[in-house]
Amino acid sequence: MKIRVFDNRHDAGIYVAAVAESVIEAKVQPVLGLATGASPISFYDALVNLHRCGLDLSNVVTINLDEYIGLSIEHEQSYHCFMRQNLFDHTNLRSENTYLPNGMADDLAFACEQYDEVIRRHPIDLQILGIGVNGHIGFNEPDDLLLSKTHIVRLRQETVESNARFFEHIDDVPKEAITVGVQAILQADQIVLMAFGAQKADIIAKAVLGSVRTDVPASILQLHRHVTLVLDRESASKLPMAF
Ligand code: F6R
Repeated sequence: MKIRVFDNRHDAGIYVAAVAESVIEAKVQPVLGLATGASPISFYDALVNLHRCGLDLSNVVTINLDEYIGLSIEHEQSYHCFMRQNLFDHTNLRSENTYLPNGMADDLAFACEQYDEVIRRHPIDLQILGIGVNGHIGFNEPDDLLLSKTHIVRLRQETVESNARFFEHIDDVPKEAITVGVQAILQADQIVLMAFGAQKADIIAKAVLGSVRTDVPASILQLHRHVTLVLDRESASKLPMAF
């Protein structure tokens, strides 16, 4: 596992965008697995900037990790909306090449199956991840077992509380989501996990230094051969390394 510790999110985002650029330029139809939330925003800013500087994204396929159940794609806290605002609307990504789970599907189980089919057809070259304060990746929450396929998940109370910062009221935070399973994440060729701030320090230390355990889902990344953790000094502060 490679660890890079930056002074700030801005510099970290530029680094991740450079990683993405090298993946994009190496493939005819590169596939990026994408996350939402606060952590990848500096990456999206830098990628949009690279696009303005000439990086063509018209052949790039994007596959997002998750979406809330019950929020329309127009809802400002839906992950569809997040992706439009932070990336899609500012690049030449083609809408037919961008995939997010359908949290409004009548048949959610079928929507999950179809999403796995999308991932099967488009193996992920670079997976971008954030990490929940409880160690979740995507919305694979701590549990007795981790599911390999795309599935419906009931969000843990700590996730609802953490995501309440994006909503007017905690009761507005959806309690369920669709998430890809750990198989889609682990089958990515390369993974970059972004985590910033002191509130992520404990879970980063557990995920990196502790045993691989289903109650710390991110610890499963120890099993992947090409993972880079992109941190700031605060989130890296519990790692016993001299930076
Ligand atoms: C979002 C996702 C989540 C977030 C995680 C961290 O698509 O899959 O795992 O990455 O909850 O969120 P932030 O970055 O807001 O701290």
